[in-house]
Amino acid sequence: MTVSNRNYPKKVTVNEVGPRDGLQNEKTFISTEDKIAWINQLSQSGLSYIEVTSFVNPKWIPALADAYEVAKQIDRASGVTYAALVPNLKGLQRGLEANIDEVAVFMSASETHNKKNINKSINETFPILKEVGKEAIAAGKTVRGYVSTVFGCPYEGPVCVEEVLRVSETLFDIGVREISLGDTIGVANPLQVQKMLDILLKRFPSERLAMHFHDTRGLAMANVLVSLEMGITNFDSSIGGLGGCPYAPGASGNVATDDLLYMLDGMGIQTGIHQEKLLAAAKFIQEKVGRPLPSHSLQACN
Ligand code: HMG
Ligand code: MG
Repeated sequence: MTVSNRNYPKKVTVNEVGPRDGLQNEKTFISTEDKIAWINQLSQSGLSYIEVTSFVNPKWIPALADAYEVAKQIDRASGVTYAALVPNLKGLQRGLEANIDEVAVFMSASETHNKKNINKSINETFPILKEVGKEAIAAGKTVRGYVSTVFGCPYEGPVCVEEVLRVSETLFDIGVREISLGDTIGVANPLQVQKMLDILLKRFPSERLAMHFHDTRGLAMANVLVSLEMGITNFDSSIGGLGGCPYAPGASGNVATDDLLYMLDGMGIQTGIHQEKLLAAAKFIQEKVGRPLPSHSLQACN
């Protein structure tokens, strides 16, 4: 399919990653109580998927050191999937104790980012994630897989598509239900996204791919639009545009959920999310982090 075929989908799934991707890089520690209150607001906004925290080493990500308390104490609204990032079996054990619904495993398509982010080579990571996938599925959980640095690496620059395919295929082999393709440092442009998806969609069905755009250079929404035109109906975003990867220099927040919703609503694409409730949750966390967030929708209503 080419970009000129403007067959927009009727419905899109929005995966809210703010409580994890958004907070992991925040200097201000958001109290456990505030995180819980905020996630509960998100649950009430009509979102069907929230990545609530990360069961990584708290020495690496101190902002999410209260992962267990957060996952354990949030309200569980029916129809909402509560997911968390898990890097290894230790993280899985902690996540299972907190009864998360979905395990999100992650790795990079570039060697140096993988090493800096999770202290392992790509080939060392595969068997670890295979065990995590096996154990998670045995415990009755679903598994989602992130591939980072799909469109460029902060250390190595361009990333070869064969590596993206190899990592994606290996993650599908370990049982992930879908893959989220990460533009970790926000370097992608729409033509690059189109070319990458042209290749990936020959190998994997569109229902099994999600896009995860960071907005470092202001192109995330243009990249969402071209992905929609290519048949993708699943997007990660962070409320208020909060966030970034602490092990990816230059990374800033994801495309803002509130801006994404504004665009999808305006285009008549259903998400099930209530604009006003979402904006209220965005204002809440903006006040807690104590600085204006990058979301345009938030600025427009301030
Ligand atoms: P390591 O130091 O190699 O781990 O870290 P280790 O197995 O050698 O263990 C060292 C210590 O860590 C031990 O404790 C372990 O128990 C502990 P000690 O004996 O020294 O007291 N440990 C743990 N503690 C709690 N939970 C765990 C855990 N595992 C080990 N799960 C590790 C390896 C993967 C843990 C570390 O590198 C890490 O935590 N990395 C996480 C980095 C991270 O969270 N990055 C951001 C998320 S990725 C991202 O943002 C990209 C994404 O958004 C997509 C995109 O944008 O592209 C997903
Ligand atoms: Mg990310």
